[in-house]
Amino acid sequence: MIMGMPERLDRERLVALVADGPGRSAAAGVVRVVRAPGRVNLIGEHTDYNDGYVLPAAIDLEIAIACVPTDDGHASLTLEATGETAAVAILDVGDAAGVWTDYLAGTAREMSRTGLAVSGFRGVLSSTLPEGAGLSSSAALELASAWALSPAGGPDATPLEMARIAQRAENEYVGMRCGLMDQFASACGVAGAAVMLDCRSLEHRAVSLPDGLAICVVHSGVPRTLVTSEYNERRADCELAVATVQRLDPDVRALRDVDLSLLARAADLDVKAKMRARHVIEENDRVLRTVEAFAADDLVAVGELFAASHASLRDLYEVSCPEIDLLVQLAMVTPGVVAARMTGAGFGGCIVALARPEAVAGLWARVERDYPGATGRTPRMWQVRAVDGAGELTT
Ligand code: GLA
Repeated sequence: MIMGMPERLDRERLVALVADGPGRSAAAGVVRVVRAPGRVNLIGEHTDYNDGYVLPAAIDLEIAIACVPTDDGHASLTLEATGETAAVAILDVGDAAGVWTDYLAGTAREMSRTGLAVSGFRGVLSSTLPEGAGLSSSAALELASAWALSPAGGPDATPLEMARIAQRAENEYVGMRCGLMDQFASACGVAGAAVMLDCRSLEHRAVSLPDGLAICVVHSGVPRTLVTSEYNERRADCELAVATVQRLDPDVRALRDVDLSLLARAADLDVKAKMRARHVIEENDRVLRTVEAFAADDLVAVGELFAASHASLRDLYEVSCPEIDLLVQLAMVTPGVVAARMTGAGFGGCIVALARPEAVAGLWARVERDYPGATGRTPRMWQVRAVDGAGELTT
């Protein structure tokens, strides 16, 4: 399917995948099915690792794991899509190997280090969440793994604590220096709402979206090959800005503490680092204003804030690309589309568009008509719903 609603992961079908395999039927009674969602960030991009604000929503593109507990100290997982099986020794995971099981292994290691119980399982992973699309399939794999490794009922920790454990798995085991947003959204999502997180205090709250707004995610089809190296470089630019500004004001701990007038005084700051810092300072402000605009049902303001965010990510943070810019343009000229911008780390991936429900088909028609010929890429689009964070799949 190129455009549509995400397919639902059906619990009975997943149970059967694990329970009906050779010699497995006896285990049918103890099959657990756990799930973790991907996310789309509405606004607040590249702010999380600067102690700023983010406003993501967990979405119904998800990873589910159907599993049977084992007591052999191994987590063995088969990918439904390919049939590939890989196993991780959960109490002695070794080094990351640049493979998908690193996310499982890193999560097991960080859970053990935190003192949480982990136990082995034999499972099948089924997913509706595309990889490499910038919709946080890594975070979803970490959170789904955490639930599969935990006893029935889930980990003995809050969703926010689980998000931080998963982030450490990614930072310290996998080697991606991501902030907390993706793991936070996958762990703490709220059905029907976006979730605002203050990445310094870790206070968070659900932010309802105005009635009658569809959330559309359009995938550019551009592979995000440079994402880890470029991402880590942007973080280094921000750290350079903080270190330089600290010479003017020693109380500055992160870009969250810097305003534009203080930044303007940092005359010797590297030009690129100054551009990155300006994006972060203004983007934090845009998150707060977007939350206010949603509360006031002011969709014109939401549209302007999304447009300003996109322009800043393109021109100051330099993480967009021509394909993503074109998708945003196509969305913005479609009648009934209220707001559009790139979402996630950038370097390809997806845009998010908020649209009147009756405009969704028109958006897809325009993308399908104008995008492939201009770019040589195959787009995909989903109309997603905001869902709860990771947990047991109950129906
Ligand atoms: C990736 C990271 C997040 C965040 C975004 C950009 O998704 O994993 O922590 O930094 O990029 O906003």
